[in-house]
Amino acid sequence: MSLQTTEAIYSNLAIDSETADKLFFEARTANTFSTEAVSEEALEAIYELTKMGPTMMNNQPLRITWVKSPEIREAVVAHMLEGNRAKSLDAPALAVLSYDANWHEQFAEFFPHAPERKAMFDDDAVSRAEIAKNNAWLQAGYFIMAVRAAGLYAGPMGGFNPAGVDSVINEGTAHHTFMIVNVGTPGENPWFDRLPRLSAETATKTV
Ligand SMILES: Cc1cc2nc3c(=O)[nH]c(=O)nc-3n(C[C@H](O)[C@H](O)[C@H](O)COP(=O)(O)O)c2cc1C
Repeated sequence: MSLQTTEAIYSNLAIDSETADKLFFEARTANTFSTEAVSEEALEAIYELTKMGPTMMNNQPLRITWVKSPEIREAVVAHMLEGNRAKSLDAPALAVLSYDANWHEQFAEFFPHAPERKAMFDDDAVSRAEIAKNNAWLQAGYFIMAVRAAGLYAGPMGGFNPAGVDSVINEGTAHHTFMIVNVGTPGENPWFDRLPRLSAETATKTV
């Protein structure tokens, strides 16, 4: 149960109720997709929104691979759980999200006022990878919201073999796949039943 009515929640927002519905209350995870194409401009807009979300030291370790080639799509899908394959074969746009374990190599670009701080991370591949994972997951959340803001629907998925997908798209790099997101507009019977969200009483406390 929510502590406030939906009307009361709307009245506390700085965005209008239609936008709140589009981004949050009525936004859903799509499980089937129509054949309507997603434009290149929409994909670019999604990244331009995604990149604005905050990350540690502005490090932005998320790397997005838009899979356009049918052969590569099939090779990626071969590493998915059976129940996920049809969604990614049908989605008009397919994004493979990876984290760059060597994100510190871009230090001068994302932290230009103090590039020497890169040295803090040069010899510690373990914490570098940990930081990469945490911040790329954070950016994946921004990515899903950006898809919604572009008027599209996202189907994020973790049911695949990351090493297998890496062998298709990340060979010879320090990039590691952690999520695959189907993107498009919903097809027939696109929704599973909406699952309950935790109440504020369960998920929050005030001290
Ligand atoms: C990180 C992550 C991994 C997920 N993995 C899968 C998956 O492998 N297969 C699948 O069908 N759905 C997967 N989902 C979809 C979730 O089950 C779905 O987003 C959640 O139940 C909320 O659905 P709703 O947005 O329609 O309320 C995943 C979602 C996230 C965010």
